[in-house]
Amino acid sequence: MPSSRISGFYNIPPKERAEKVREFANLTNDDISVLQSILPIDDLDRMIENVIGAFSLPYGVATNFLINGRDYLIPMVIEEPSVVAAASNAARLARNNFGFIAKATKPVMIGQIQLKTDTPHLSKMMILNEKEDILKIANDKDPVLKDLGGGAEDIVCRILMNQLVIHLLVNVKDAMGANIVNTMCEAVAGRIEEITGGKVILRIVSNLAIERLAQAYAVFRKDDIGGEDVVDKIISATDLANADPFRCATHNKGIMNGIDALLIATGNDFRAVESGAHAYASLNGYHSLTTWEKTKDGDLAGSIELPMPLGVVGGGTISPCARLSLKILGVKTSNELSCVAAALGLAQNFAALRALVTEGIQKGHMKLHSKNIVKIAMESMMDNESSICNNNDIINKVADLLIKEGNISVGRAKEILKNITNHA
Ligand code: MEV
Repeated sequence: MPSSRISGFYNIPPKERAEKVREFANLTNDDISVLQSILPIDDLDRMIENVIGAFSLPYGVATNFLINGRDYLIPMVIEEPSVVAAASNAARLARNNFGFIAKATKPVMIGQIQLKTDTPHLSKMMILNEKEDILKIANDKDPVLKDLGGGAEDIVCRILMNQLVIHLLVNVKDAMGANIVNTMCEAVAGRIEEITGGKVILRIVSNLAIERLAQAYAVFRKDDIGGEDVVDKIISATDLANADPFRCATHNKGIMNGIDALLIATGNDFRAVESGAHAYASLNGYHSLTTWEKTKDGDLAGSIELPMPLGVVGGGTISPCARLSLKILGVKTSNELSCVAAALGLAQNFAALRALVTEGIQKGHMKLHSKNIVKIAMESMMDNESSICNNNDIINKVADLLIKEGNISVGRAKEILKNITNHA
């Protein structure tokens, strides 16, 4: 396996980057061309309703990730500058130690069946008494999953608001699993009513997938990250997140910057993971999804744990771009993808906190932001067709000047561009 430690990746043109990814993941030219094409309108029309076209977002690749001793390039689809660079940088620092160690539990999803009954305690006993029968009805809906070693495995009953909430636990193997869980919940509802004499109200997957967790940890050497002072400040910033939901929402958002970008690149349901992550963080009071501690050597040890219901089969993972992402990752199972997602979330949080407690995050954002401002200025100028427009050298030069002057505005960019045109 080649190394994902690619120095200078940031500074080479996109085509050369694609070439490096092609070599790393043994891709064909056709694989790479998937990224330049959009799906035929008929395929898009089968994915959602009322389709009129497709929407593009940048597709980047985070480098340097070493997870459980294996090198990964991680595809990320995201509109925000700095996120991919920050993840790559954190991964570079983590690999000075052992990279990331990550683990995921068995892919068990929870389906909920809400039962209105006058006797919730009695109904609970009756359901548990007929558990095997209910599980069989559920599993008859997907014999293939059962043959693969998955399927409905257990039932847990909870009493809330004097109603019974029945949890159907389903091992969904390599799928995200919402579809099959919903189908199974709907299938067993009638039998549950028969057994209890109650009335089923809703039947749906829970996104708080506490049976399907991913965890990761890493240790960053103090000397690599700016010394013990930075270690202490990162720990203090996390203390604040744990004490203050206003800060914690942003802290956890930074974690999801990375995870969502990977989920979009692999065609996964990022809303499901988002809602599960925040609900999980809310158990026992809204808190950070990560922990940061100082080791006895003064280094920074980080860990993360969150629900990770990801699929590598079915749903959006069948799209050509998602297949390409899985190929670049070299990932075959939902379990392994969950490990990568957890490591990426931890890396992203480390990078954000380190920037926040040192130089701030704006410096990193400014380079790309400034280029976008120049592009907007160019497009709004009358002489849009002139040779200076869309000239990358000029965009870079003007963007650098705006940063140097500390005035990143369309107005100033236009003035500089006009000067260049007048002297050209
Ligand atoms: C920005 O998208 C994410 C951060 O705000 C995360 C954080 O504050 O921890 C930088």
